[in-house]
Amino acid sequence: MCGIIGYLGRRKVLPILINGLLRLEYRGYDSCGVSFLYNDDLITVKTKGKVLELKEKLDLLTESTIGIAHTRWATHGIPSEVNSHPHTDFLNNISLVHNGIIENYESLKKFLQTKNITFRSDTDSEVLVGLIFYFYKGDLKEAVLKAISQVVGTFGILVLSKNKREIVVARKGSPVVLGIGEDEYFIASDTSAIIEYTKDVIYLNDGEIALINDQGYYITDFNNEIIDKDIDTLSVTLDQIEKQGYKHFMLKEIYEQKDVIKNALAGRIDLKSNSVILGGLDFINFEYLEKLKRIVILACGTSWHCALVSKFIIEKYLKIPVEVDYASEFRYRDPLVDQDTLVIVISQSGETADTLAALREAKEKNAKTLGIVNVVGSTIAREVSCGIYTRAGPEIGVASTKAFTNQLISMWLFVLYVGQKNNLISIEDRLKIIKNLSSLPEIIFEEINNSVEEVKKIAENFKNSKNFLYLGRGINYPIALEGALKLKEISYIHAEGYPAAEMKHGPIALIDKDMPCVFIVNKNNNYEKVISNINEVKARGGVVISIATKGDVDILKISDYVIYVEDIDNDLTPFLNLVIMQLIAYFISDLKGCEIDKPRNLAKSVTVE
Ligand code: F6R
Repeated sequence: MCGIIGYLGRRKVLPILINGLLRLEYRGYDSCGVSFLYNDDLITVKTKGKVLELKEKLDLLTESTIGIAHTRWATHGIPSEVNSHPHTDFLNNISLVHNGIIENYESLKKFLQTKNITFRSDTDSEVLVGLIFYFYKGDLKEAVLKAISQVVGTFGILVLSKNKREIVVARKGSPVVLGIGEDEYFIASDTSAIIEYTKDVIYLNDGEIALINDQGYYITDFNNEIIDKDIDTLSVTLDQIEKQGYKHFMLKEIYEQKDVIKNALAGRIDLKSNSVILGGLDFINFEYLEKLKRIVILACGTSWHCALVSKFIIEKYLKIPVEVDYASEFRYRDPLVDQDTLVIVISQSGETADTLAALREAKEKNAKTLGIVNVVGSTIAREVSCGIYTRAGPEIGVASTKAFTNQLISMWLFVLYVGQKNNLISIEDRLKIIKNLSSLPEIIFEEINNSVEEVKKIAENFKNSKNFLYLGRGINYPIALEGALKLKEISYIHAEGYPAAEMKHGPIALIDKDMPCVFIVNKNNNYEKVISNINEVKARGGVVISIATKGDVDILKISDYVIYVEDIDNDLTPFLNLVIMQLIAYFISDLKGCEIDKPRNLAKSVTVE
């Protein structure tokens, strides 16, 4: 949520800031701005709108080598130039970019107004820079420390002052990473903004503050105690964060699913013993499993849908009861977890505020925690007791696609790993599952190629629909929910997902000729039941789009459109149906001319509660 970037070094700063903002735009994109030092003056340029509009307002050749920048996802105050960052104090001495929320900003604002400090915007962030200004007596870091000691809330901030070549960086609750080059420093809310310049990074933890100047950098805690931090090396490449000829990141990421599955499996499967090797799960031994009473899975949005699918496979293969909860609800209901509960958190970004808060709540209650996380080094990845990285690579499209697929692959690896430890999954079954998982990349590749034309036809016919219903059963009911979520978030068409049998308990009232119903109807135990649901829709004049198993000719008689997926083990069909859901949403949105990679009101990483 919001992207921040800063630079101090020898190069011209504006191209670096603009480039960084373009890479960060997926985190928030309703307004943006930069502040830089020019002849000892603090210059700030902002715009309501996208980074390219900001670029138009700037002379990129300006001789400045230090600055900070921000792309915003509005929380306090509408998207507008005045509400966009960087915010400066009313005398233009100090400039700040802020990611997070200052909860007590109203009382701080009232206090500062009594000290004749005035404000122009409706934002909480401007209050923070006002507070820093209030404490500023020539030592910027000291002023920042005093200000943040008064703040209730979360922040990742970069602060720049007039007349001095230094940037102060502080973190509490919102991610900040420091990139170290040769006599130059890059600071950003995530590594995608700096990866083309350096691979050497330091992740700031909550409660840490850094001062960066031409002599170097040093990091302390909020009590000014020096902290020695290790430098990590990034493994992500620039290629991974570029579009490579695809019209949108989302389409690229849908196609990439075949590759990222291979990455997730690589080195984790021993084909000789048909076993799974997961270095990050050391504590899961037989004694631990004997005591384990239940598993609670916490996540939000698409990751929550993955959690719902996971419940089916964990309960089926490991016979451990699983509860799935929205991370945002979990922490507010005094949840019943203890040391005999394993809490699994699933998060692509590893920074989702609701999921992080739920994780911390679980840890407070002594639960063991396991993270299924995509972004290496993210806060959740660092705070869980153990974890599995999903290895989906950077996901830039705001709508999550390949991350879901690899979350589910990771969950399968977890199930196989635990199954082999407690002897619940036989070696034959393990072999079968491993073989099936390994065949998915090829199947998905074929599926995309074979279905694209039919999906485009469906998109053309339904792009003007106002509503959609998505229905599936069993392990595919969460995929119906995901299909509806994908469609609404990028096409703005209203869509609902339901377990198919629930249709008759209410949603059936909506069925008419203008309501396309997407049915997931793979050949499995529930097949006949779903067919009955389809017939109920047809009987009411509804339009049926079926995602069916290859070879099922009967389905043609009761469907208006059919997309076939490979006939594979039912437990793995979510992978195949999911891809079709993503393609339907993508092509409808593309025909409608929507901003697919940056849908309105959304942001990639939701770091506010
Ligand atoms: C939907 C989407 C969101 C995220 C949710 C959780 O396409 O991307 O629903 O899944 O915000 O994000 P993570 O997985 O980063 O915790």
